[in-house]
Amino acid sequence: MVTLDKIFSLCKRRGFIFPSSEIYGGFGGVYDFGPLGVEMKNNIKRLWWDEMIKFHENIVGIDAAILMSPKIWEASGHLTAGFADELVECKNCHKRFRGDEVKDLKCPECGGEITKSRKFNLMMKTFVGPVEDKSTLTYLRAETCQGIYVNFNNVLSSMRMKIPFGIAQIGKAFRNEINPKDFIFRTREFEQMEMQWFCHPKNADNFFDFWRDERIKWYYSLGIKKDEIRFKEVDSSERAHYAKRQVDIEYKFPFGWKEIEGIHNRGDWDLSNHSKHSRQDLMYFDQKTREKYFPYVIETSVGVERSLFAFLCAAYQEIKGGRTKTTKSSKDVEILLKLDKKISPFKVAILPLVKNKPGLTKIAKEIYQKLKLNFMVIYDEVGTIGRRYRRQDEIGTPYAITCDFETLKDNTVTIRDRDTMEQKRININEVNEEINKLLK
Ligand code: GAP
Repeated sequence: MVTLDKIFSLCKRRGFIFPSSEIYGGFGGVYDFGPLGVEMKNNIKRLWWDEMIKFHENIVGIDAAILMSPKIWEASGHLTAGFADELVECKNCHKRFRGDEVKDLKCPECGGEITKSRKFNLMMKTFVGPVEDKSTLTYLRAETCQGIYVNFNNVLSSMRMKIPFGIAQIGKAFRNEINPKDFIFRTREFEQMEMQWFCHPKNADNFFDFWRDERIKWYYSLGIKKDEIRFKEVDSSERAHYAKRQVDIEYKFPFGWKEIEGIHNRGDWDLSNHSKHSRQDLMYFDQKTREKYFPYVIETSVGVERSLFAFLCAAYQEIKGGRTKTTKSSKDVEILLKLDKKISPFKVAILPLVKNKPGLTKIAKEIYQKLKLNFMVIYDEVGTIGRRYRRQDEIGTPYAITCDFETLKDNTVTIRDRDTMEQKRININEVNEEINKLLK
C-alpha cells in the first residue's frame, strides 16, 4: 500500500525530491526538485500548457513577475483577514498550528493546552530597494493570477481578444504557511498553473461547469482513476474571500481526501477592485452589443507539486515476488511506478546486456546518442540486467532497449514494456520510429 513515507523515501533515493538546505539541517516547508523531479515537473507543466493554450481556443499565456506593487495585494484583499489563517500555539511544547488542525483545544503533538487563536496573514514580506522601511515593503505573490488581472487591458488590446477568452500562467507562489506538512502537499514555496476565463456574467455558471468538467478529465487522461479523485462543492463559510462559488478537485492521498485544484467563480471581485484602487477602467466594451461591463472570472488553479504528488501516489505499486526475477524471495517487494508515459521523467533506458563486451556497449552508446536528440533517454550498464530493469520500473521509465549477443549477429535489439514486461525484437534502424510510435 502506498504511504507518505514510501513516496518520500522513493523521491529522495531516486532523485525526484530533496528537502531544501539539507546539509544545514533543512528549511521548513521548502523542497528542491532533483534530476528526475524537475523532468516530471516540466512534463506536467508542458501538458497543462498545451491543454490550455494549444487545445482550447481563445486562451493566451503570460509570464508576469513575482514582485509586484504592494497596492495589488491591498486591492485583491490579500493583506486583510481574507488571506489569514487562525494561528494557535501549544502552551507546553510551543508548536504552532492552524486553528482547524486542533481538536478539543488540545495540542495534537503533546496534548498540552492551546492558546486562543489569532489571525495570521500568509503573505511573505520582502523589501525592494536599499532601504528597509514601509516605503519599500512589498510581498512575494501568493497567487499567480493577480499578475493576469493587472495585465487585463494589455492582453486585451495587444491580442485583440474578445470575450469569452482566457489567460493562462504558470509560476511560483509563496505563502507563509503556519504548519507546512505532508511532504510537498503544503509548502511555503510552490508553483501554480492558473487559467482565468473572462466571460459575460450571465454565462458564468455554464462556464464554471464546463471548466470544472474539463479539468477533471485532464487527470483521468493522465492516469488518475475515477475512484481516486472527486469534486467537493465548498460551502460559503469555507470559501476563499474572492469566490462566489468554489469546487475543489480532491485526490485520495494516503493521508486522506485533499484538494489538488480549485475551480472558482471570482465574479468581478478582482477587476472591479483593481479598477477602484488603480483608477483605471478595467471594464470590457462589447462592440457588437454596445454593452460595457466587468467580466466575471472563472478560474482554474492547480499546484504543480500537488498534482505531481497525486500522479506519484496514483502510479505507485508494490509487487511481491520477483517480477523482474532479481528479488531473492517471493516475499520481497519490487516497486513499479506506473506513471503515464507523458509524465515519466525518462522515456527510454538503453541497456547493454553486459558491460565488459566492448562491441555491445559501443552499439548501446550509439543508440543512446541518437535517441537522446529526440527523447529523454538514460543509459545504464551497471549491475545485472534484471536489477537494471527494476531500477527503471521504480522510476517509471516506460521502455527499455537492450543490446544483447543477438545484436552483434543481426543488428536487432529488444524493446521491453515496463507494464507488461513483454519484449519484442526490432532492427536498430527502426528504434527511433518505434519509440516515437509507442510514445504517441
Ligand atoms: N488563485 C486561486 C488560488 O490560489 P488556492 O485554492 O489558494 O487558490 C490553488 O490555491 C492551488 O494552489 C491549490 O489547489 C493547491 O494545488 C496549490 N496550493 C495552494 N497552497 C499551497 C501550498 N501551501 N503548498 C502547495 N500547493 C499549494
